[in-house]
Amino acid sequence: MNLKKRLIAANAATVAIPVLITALVAIAYLFIYSKLYGNIYSWESYQRASKIEAALMDTERLIQQESPDAIADEKFQRLLRQKIAEIGGELIILKDDSVIYTSLDAPGIGKIELAKALEAGQNKPGKETIVISSQSFTVQIIEQDPADAAGGTVLLLVPPDQEANGLIQFLIVIGLTFLCTFIATNILISYQFSRAVLQPLNHLQHAADEIRTGNLDCQIAEEGDREIEALCRDLELMRLKLKESIHTQLKYEDNRKMLISSISHDLKTPVTSIKGYVEGILDGVANTPEKTEKYLKTIYVKAEQVDKMIDDLLLYAKLDLNQIPFNFERTDVQEFIRSCLLESEPELENNRIHTEMFSDLTQKRCVFLDRERMKRIVMNILDNSRKYMDKDEAVIRVLLRETPSSIIMEFQDNGCGVSEKDLPYIFDRFYRSDQARTGIEGSGLGLAIAQQVVEGHQGIIWAMSHGKEGMSILISLAYLKD
Ligand SMILES: Nc1ncnc2c1ncn2[C@@H]1O[C@H](COP(=O)(O)OP(=O)(O)O)[C@@H](O)[C@H]1O
Ligand SMILES: [Mg+2]
Repeated sequence: MNLKKRLIAANAATVAIPVLITALVAIAYLFIYSKLYGNIYSWESYQRASKIEAALMDTERLIQQESPDAIADEKFQRLLRQKIAEIGGELIILKDDSVIYTSLDAPGIGKIELAKALEAGQNKPGKETIVISSQSFTVQIIEQDPADAAGGTVLLLVPPDQEANGLIQFLIVIGLTFLCTFIATNILISYQFSRAVLQPLNHLQHAADEIRTGNLDCQIAEEGDREIEALCRDLELMRLKLKESIHTQLKYEDNRKMLISSISHDLKTPVTSIKGYVEGILDGVANTPEKTEKYLKTIYVKAEQVDKMIDDLLLYAKLDLNQIPFNFERTDVQEFIRSCLLESEPELENNRIHTEMFSDLTQKRCVFLDRERMKRIVMNILDNSRKYMDKDEAVIRVLLRETPSSIIMEFQDNGCGVSEKDLPYIFDRFYRSDQARTGIEGSGLGLAIAQQVVEGHQGIIWAMSHGKEGMSILISLAYLKD
């Protein structure tokens, strides 16, 4: 439910539910009452009430019309008695505070009853009931002209309207029912509203506090009404993004530290040997021209290694920051591999390494390639095969296969291979197997660069070990459909 609807429903319910319950109680009350005592307010009772009202007014008019002395007149007293008897009432006539006439039986009206009747008639005329001779009455007082000292007072005792009492009871019950259900519904709906709106907001506030203090693991559950649920979802996404960005930042920080320590370590080795050879020359250890030339050549080779390492490092850093744009062009895979092999063949032949190419492609397949950069990768892979070759009959095979959507290029050699333990790490920058570190020059960046370039082509690169019989590097690239 959304918040607006909930507010409307809550407001409607606080009125509708009490009204409904009150109506039901009223119906039930009327039903039970009518079963027990007959109709609560019938036409007859209305008629009776009207008759009493009319008789009272008539009597009052009669009394007021007559002279003050008339009430002492027996004929007039009889007339009044007759009038009041028609509605089942009784009559007391007072003059100078003493009873001069009463329609009640003489012993029925004592001083106490008279005082009660006077009090009821003055305070709540027609409302308060008094009991005289085990009969209930309400009292109406009619005073003759109070200015006239001769005037008297007439007390009209009227039988109470039982049904009016029933009606009052009914109204009290209904009123109380409405009040109680109104309070109960309000409490209930407020509680419900707080559960659906305030509780999720409290949870949100708690989560926001946690995030503010740096605890990004505090999950925000989606709960509450639609708007609040959406807010929870957005905040949860924000939390995840924040967590991810902090994680990436920490990773970059770690990488940076690792990079610096690896660079310093890997550069230090050739620089130390350059220093050693220079010292050798300066100290006169290289005392023959042949020795000096040998020292200088070694220094040159080491300096070149440092140069190449710095080149690789710069390239890697640029690729890592996505600073070099790729220059993709539609390229025939077979032709591309052939051109790479052609370029590295002389060097490989020099090292007595034989190259072969096998293609399972059924037709000419083209891929989008940055020729320059991909060629560098292939040359690097072939150069690794050359560097880590330990067999007399050295062979590098390039195998081309296709899947329904991609071309797989496999560069397989029968060199020393990598152990299963090193295999997962050879694409990590600066990673070199122990075997490679002993004597074979390299920066440990070649395959890391290859991975970046292949991923820049939306491709995949991986390695397969053939134990002591060498290894394969495989590259998969999506081919272009005609
Ligand atoms: N053809 C291969 N045969 C055996 N080991 C290889 C081969 N290619 C790569 N490796 C291993 O993977 C590591 C990482 O290769 P690379 O990133 O090119 O670094 P580098 O050639 O500078 O050592 C190498 O040090 C080596 O241990
Ligand atoms: Mg290499």
